[in-house]
Amino acid sequence: MRLGVTVMPPFPHQSMGTRHYPRNLPHGYRFDRPEVWQQLVRTAERGGFDFVLLADTGGVYREYGASIGDAVEHAAHVPVFDATAMTGFLAAATSHVGIVATRSIAGTAPYVAARTLATLDHLSDGRIGWNVVTGHHRAAAENLGADDQTPHDLRYDMADEYVELCRRLWNGWKAGAGSGDGGSALDPRATPFVPREAVTEIDFEGRFYSSRGPLNVHPSPQRGPAIFQAGASPRGIRTGARWADAVMSVQPYPAGMVRYRDAVKAEAAAQGREPSEVAVLHVIQVFTGESDAIAAEKARIYDEGVDPVAGLVVLSGHLGFDLSTVPFDTPFASLDVPGGQGLIDQYARVDEARDITVGQVAERYGRDTSQPRFVGSGATVAAQLAELFDHVGGDGFIVSPAWAPGNLEDFVDFVVPELAARGLVRTSYTPGATLRDNLRDDTTGTRSTPATPAAATAHPATTAPAHPAAASPAHPATTPPAHPAHPTRPTARENGHP
Ligand SMILES: Cc1cc2nc3c(=O)[nH]c(=O)nc-3n(C[C@H](O)[C@H](O)[C@H](O)COP(=O)(O)O)c2cc1C
Repeated sequence: MRLGVTVMPPFPHQSMGTRHYPRNLPHGYRFDRPEVWQQLVRTAERGGFDFVLLADTGGVYREYGASIGDAVEHAAHVPVFDATAMTGFLAAATSHVGIVATRSIAGTAPYVAARTLATLDHLSDGRIGWNVVTGHHRAAAENLGADDQTPHDLRYDMADEYVELCRRLWNGWKAGAGSGDGGSALDPRATPFVPREAVTEIDFEGRFYSSRGPLNVHPSPQRGPAIFQAGASPRGIRTGARWADAVMSVQPYPAGMVRYRDAVKAEAAAQGREPSEVAVLHVIQVFTGESDAIAAEKARIYDEGVDPVAGLVVLSGHLGFDLSTVPFDTPFASLDVPGGQGLIDQYARVDEARDITVGQVAERYGRDTSQPRFVGSGATVAAQLAELFDHVGGDGFIVSPAWAPGNLEDFVDFVVPELAARGLVRTSYTPGATLRDNLRDDTTGTRSTPATPAAATAHPATTAPAHPAAASPAHPATTPPAHPAHPTRPTARENGHP
């Protein structure tokens, strides 16, 4: 079972109750200093995790209420640090765990990205990953001077060419011309330092990008970073299956996890890749502790601090649609939105969630952005994860800490030993292994087999979930928002919004 962590410094971004959670940022940690995040990556390394992924976004959401006001007042994905810039701080604090930077194709030329990422891959000794994103929200495009967003599928066409050009630059130096080739480090005193015929210009002329090359950085341990991707649409899955070492998904229901896993593995095979080369990972939220009761109490206290307005801001941003313009009890599946159709399908295509309302999804978004939640002692959570892993296949999970750094410490202290006792996770790193090596490591013997149509039929959407919490769509329809009303504009309030 592969294990990763995702955070978006300076806040754990998928848990919008985190700011009010009493255990967040203990011991005088400051959210905008490196120490708390360095502690978090060291904890991931102590748990034998494959990677810590730094999410990123290029602007402040302004969809909800057509204003940035609620986003900044409720710290809804703002502030967000530049993930690539943070990578060096976190790699320097660790020795084995991978550090993955989310980086959009918008805003910088492929050459610039290829050079920065090759540099980081050298300096981290092959532990860098790149989560390739296309800039899925309008504010990010406007901040770069564009009037509007590039259309969805065209963004992925551009991403394909962007990554292809980066790959050519990383591969422009021939075998033997760098430390990425069998560890044969270059001799800084030798002349020729590198034979001239070993380094070639690439003269790339594409539809969107061009570059003469060569890259002025010698081949890094992984010849560029390991590639991550998180597209959920058919076009997004095509790009992920073509390039990625790992793809990620947030699926509130097991049926969606199975569907996503099958689609990715089938697409990888269609593109001539070995499906097991593309690890399929699902994001989860976990509350754990010494006992089931202690874990449940942590979840209860956390839920009291969840901010429904932050959920509405981020969900509106992800949908590209102002949710303040529709009544809270609008069926979520009836929305017609320009972005994030996959978000609607996550609910609309699952029997027990078909009638979920806008208000319910927004509240859940504030709580965990639709991740399945696991609550219990280490043994309880490990048993639930093992069962879900068997049920949905795929290659593992990405923990999204509900607070920093303690929520991940809980996972490593209570759940990891139980998973290790079941032989499901590594107990030590292989010396010198790169991030890509670790993602392909099969020493736990549990790597799932490629999806088959039969596997999909065996777990239809109506199958009972492995874990009740993993399937509970959201708080019940009648649950009022956890917070006192935050009226912002009459339209939102008239629509039943908090
Ligand atoms: C686990 C996960 C992490 C993601 N991280 C980021 C991120 O940090 N920055 C970003 O701009 N988009 C991020 N995305 C959005 C995806 O890159 C993609 O735009 C989104 O899943 C919609 O893809 P689709 O249009 O192919 O369905 C993430 C998505 C998922 C599921």
